[in-house]
Amino acid sequence: MEANDYQQKQEPKLFYTETYGCQMNINDSERLAGQLKTIGYEETENVDKADLILLNTCCVRESAEKKIHGRIGEMKRRKLVNPNLIIGVVGCLAQKDKEKILTKFPHVNLVMGTHNTHRLLEVIAQAEQSREPVLAVWDQAERLAPDVPTVRKGQISAWVPIMYGCNNFCTYCIVPYVRGRERSRPLADIVAEIRQLGAEGFKEVTLLGQNVNSYGKDSGSSTDFAELLQAVDQIEPIARIRYMTSHPRDMNDKVIETIKNSKKICEHFHLPVQSGNNDILGRMNRGYTTEYYHRLVEHIRQLIPGASVTTDLIVGFPGESEEHIIETLNFIKTIRYDAAYTFLYSQRSGTPAADYPDQVPVAEKKARLNQLMEIQNEISLQINKQLVGTSVEVLVEGPSKNDETKLMGRTRTNKIVLWAKAGAEKPGDLVNVQIATAQTWVLKGCLV
Ligand code: SAH
Ligand code: SF4
Ligand code: F3S
Repeated sequence: MEANDYQQKQEPKLFYTETYGCQMNINDSERLAGQLKTIGYEETENVDKADLILLNTCCVRESAEKKIHGRIGEMKRRKLVNPNLIIGVVGCLAQKDKEKILTKFPHVNLVMGTHNTHRLLEVIAQAEQSREPVLAVWDQAERLAPDVPTVRKGQISAWVPIMYGCNNFCTYCIVPYVRGRERSRPLADIVAEIRQLGAEGFKEVTLLGQNVNSYGKDSGSSTDFAELLQAVDQIEPIARIRYMTSHPRDMNDKVIETIKNSKKICEHFHLPVQSGNNDILGRMNRGYTTEYYHRLVEHIRQLIPGASVTTDLIVGFPGESEEHIIETLNFIKTIRYDAAYTFLYSQRSGTPAADYPDQVPVAEKKARLNQLMEIQNEISLQINKQLVGTSVEVLVEGPSKNDETKLMGRTRTNKIVLWAKAGAEKPGDLVNVQIATAQTWVLKGCLV
C-alpha cells in the first residue's frame, strides 16, 4: 500500500459549508451536515482542508445572488490544488437557476435544489463516482420529505421547521418559486424533535416557516398554529419558544391569546408590513391594509403590554412615489417598531413585480432607505432607552462576537443584551440584567 493510500484510508473526509439567506437555510445546512456525518464526513471551518464544499444559497435579492456568484467563481482555483475536491451549489439559487449554474461554472460538481435536501447522500455518491457534474433539482417537493439527522451549530438555541414552502405569492418575492407549496410537518414529529432538543440541553427553540400562521392548513390537519404553540409550550426543559415568520394577514386572536396565556412563547411579534401605503400593499398582494395592520398591533399591545413588535420593509417597489414613501415614514412613526429590517426592492425575474412599469431608480431607492433607517433608528433608540434602569430576563448565549470580555444574551422581546461576566453565569442560564445604557440595536448592563 502506498503511503498516500494509507493516509486516505485513515483520515476522515472533511466538508465545509457556507450558508446564505434565512434561518430556513441555516437549518437546511444543519440537515446537510447531519446526513454527511452518517457517512463519516467531518465538518471543517477551514475551506482549504475540505474534500467537499457546499454553498447553500439564497436568491431573495440580487445582492445575495451576486455575492454567491463571486464566491462560486473563487472556488475554481481550489480545484487546481485538489483535483478531487467536490464543489456543490445547493439551496434556493440552485433551485432557481439549475443547469445555468453548471454552464456558467463548469468547475461545479453538483447542483442540488431545495426539494432534494434530504437526498444529499445519493447526490454525493453520484458526484464521487461519475466525476460528471450532477444536476439534482426536482421541480416539486415530495408531499412530506422524511426527516434526516441534524447536526446543530449551537447548543442553546435551535431551529425547528414546522412547515416548508409558501403559498402567498407576494408579487416581489421569489420564495414560493424556489421553495414550493406549503407543506406542514406532522405535529408529533415537531414535538418529538423539541423533546429531544430539551433532553440534549437546548433552552430555546425557534419554529420556522415562511408563514407559520398557516400551519396545518395544507394537510387538512385538525391542529392549527395556535394549537401547535399550546402543545410545544408544555415541553420541558425548553425555556423559550419563538417562531418566524408570521404573516400579518393570518395573525389572529387565537394565536395572540395563546401567547398571552403561555409560559414560554416569547412576547415578540415579527410582523413584516413591507409598506405603509395601501396602494402598494395591494400591488404587493399582501392581503391587508394599513388600517387592519394598525388595529392588529394595537390589539397585541393591549393584550400583551411590553410585547415587542418588529417588521420588514421594502423601499422602491415599482410605482412607489414620493407620496407613498412619505406615508410609509408616517406609518412607522405611528406604529413605533422596536426594530425594522429594511430592504431595497430587488427585481426578481419570474415574479410579477419584475415586469411592473415605473421601476424606481437605484439612487432614489437608496435615498428612501436612508430616510427610513434614520427615522426607525431614532425610534428604536427611544424605545430601548425606556429600558434603562430596569431589570430584564436574559437567556445567556455566549461571549459577544465583537467584545470577548462581554457576555451576550437576549431578552424575551428579542433585544440583544451585553454585560461583563460577573459570576458563574454560563450559556443556557436565565439571568437578570440591569440595563445601564441603550443603543439602537443593543442594551448594555450589569448582572443583578
Ligand atoms: N416569509 C417571510 C420572509 C420572506 S423573505 C415573510 O413573508 O415575511 C424576508 C424579507 O425579504 C421579506 O419580508 C421582504 O421584506 C424581503 N424581500 C423579499 N423579496 C424581496 C425583493 N424582491 N426585494 C427586496 N426585498 C425582498
Ligand atoms: Fe415571500 Fe410573501 Fe411568501 Fe414571505 S409570505 S415568503 S414575502 S411570498
Ligand atoms: Fe433566501 Fe431561500 Fe431563505 S431565497 S431568504 S434562503 S427561502
